[in-house]
Amino acid sequence: AKPEHLKIMISGAPASGKGTQCELITKKYGLVHIAAGDLLRAEIASGSENGKRAKEYMEKGQLVPNEIVVMMVKDRLLQPDSQENGWLLDGYPRSLSQATALKEFGFRPDLFIVLEVNEEILVERVVGRRLDPVTGKIYHLKYSPPETEEIAARLTQRFDDTEEKVKLRLQTHHQNVEAVLSMYEDIALKVNGNVPKEDVFAQIDDALTKLFEDQKLTSGSL
Ligand code: AP5
Repeated sequence: AKPEHLKIMISGAPASGKGTQCELITKKYGLVHIAAGDLLRAEIASGSENGKRAKEYMEKGQLVPNEIVVMMVKDRLLQPDSQENGWLLDGYPRSLSQATALKEFGFRPDLFIVLEVNEEILVERVVGRRLDPVTGKIYHLKYSPPETEEIAARLTQRFDDTEEKVKLRLQTHHQNVEAVLSMYEDIALKVNGNVPKEDVFAQIDDALTKLFEDQKLTSGSL
């Protein structure tokens, strides 16, 4: 069975495993994965003025200004596939003003997942992360190594994945995390993200299964 219009947000520090969990969640639940960071990287790749501006902030580990990010995410949420299948919003909102804007547009999630990971683990995950430009899959040299030599040879690294830059990204995260959480306190699910990815997913999967069952009950479709 497919969940009806589940609306989920996932948050957590840089490299806490948001993208990794989104891959597992979408595989099982068929939600549309919308990642603010991916939308921004696509904008950079397109060579647009907005992309050029965004990159300046991303290189400093700072939040990209709202006038670039807010409409980009809103437009993606309003696409027919997100409306029909439900959405999984990753890395947004990241500030109180972004959360407020979403609320004003009428987007309210069913669940706000917070991945909690210790800081020394985050740095190790950032430095070892690699991406497959062909499939978009996320790897880690130690924890999730590529399956074949061919994949290993084409892996790339993100421009902001250095120890120095992750420290700046972490600072930005700490400045905003409490304010964002305060908007979703009543629907927040705190997940222990220090454990292997399958064990992190098991915690999320439990909550999503319950949510899905509750939705079926209230919509009378059982
Ligand atoms: P963004 O792309 O969102 O980056 P981020 O928040 O720093 O998060 P990451 O993508 O680095 O990590 P992740 O949590 O997805 O971890 P992953 O699964 O890859 O944002 C980048 C920049 O864009 C920001 O700095 C900002 O400038 C800008 N931006 C984005 N959103 C914005 C917004 N809303 N407003 C304004 N600006 C915005 O995992 C990391 C590594 O760990 C991988 O190698 C993975 O294989 C490994 N791993 C994952 N889980 C586990 C596990 N359980 N055990 C062992 N290894 C694991």
